[in-house]
Amino acid sequence: MNKTVAIVLAAGKSERLGGELPKPFLSIHGRELYQYSLQMFDQHPQIDSIILVVPQQFLSTEKAKNKSDKINLIVGGKTRFESVKNALDHLEKSVENVIIHDAARPFITKKLIDNCLKNLLKNKALSCAIESTDTLVVKDAKGNADSYPDRSKTMRIQTPQAFRLDLLKKAYSLAIKESKTDFTDDGSLIHYYGLAPLSLVPGSEQNIKITYASDLLLAELILNELIPIASVREMKK
Ligand code: CTP
Ligand code: MG
Repeated sequence: MNKTVAIVLAAGKSERLGGELPKPFLSIHGRELYQYSLQMFDQHPQIDSIILVVPQQFLSTEKAKNKSDKINLIVGGKTRFESVKNALDHLEKSVENVIIHDAARPFITKKLIDNCLKNLLKNKALSCAIESTDTLVVKDAKGNADSYPDRSKTMRIQTPQAFRLDLLKKAYSLAIKESKTDFTDDGSLIHYYGLAPLSLVPGSEQNIKITYASDLLLAELILNELIPIASVREMKK
């Protein structure tokens, strides 16, 4: 069977949120934020192992908390790109598929993971994406509106994103060769090098990314079941 590894990214600095702790380590409802998505991958029967990427200063404390054989912890880098690269460097040769997820999105569901893995049987690269309800605009250097893409042709990219490992590794080595490492996600990296079509899998409106303080309030409402969502029901089963 194809070996599949999940990479959960929790090594960012949370500069937009601010505060003392990086967002994956904030406790909501008695659990650190990263634990929500980690649990979904840990419980998923098709995920063989997980790499949790954390900042250096959290390595020993988080290692002590995550003793499952399925979970390995490593230290991230200065950018998201470097954090993913560090994880890829830790993978064994037998790994065929990787599914990458931002720990900042706690409400991933089993169904989203299922859909990604199913799609990966047919495609080599994919990303979850949702329709945009807002009109999107491209801005110019002065911050004024430059052009309006047709909303019906745009989507908002989320994680998880999944890839055949050989393809993703090739994209990373091309990017490193030309020192182009400012990609904010892995789907855009694959697209930039045109290595394979990037399939767009339906994401979920509830798969929110914690970026600002208001997102933490929203997460609290979700966990208090004031906004009912599938992943919370799954967690409480
Ligand atoms: N991430 C990471 N390593 C980095 C930067 C980001 O592992 N060097 C992770 C974050 O922890 C987060 C995900 O990538 O789970 C998406 O990044 P983002 O939401 O931008 O988080 P931060 O970079 O931490 O936040 P900010 O951009 O506001 O500083
Ligand atoms: Mg960031």
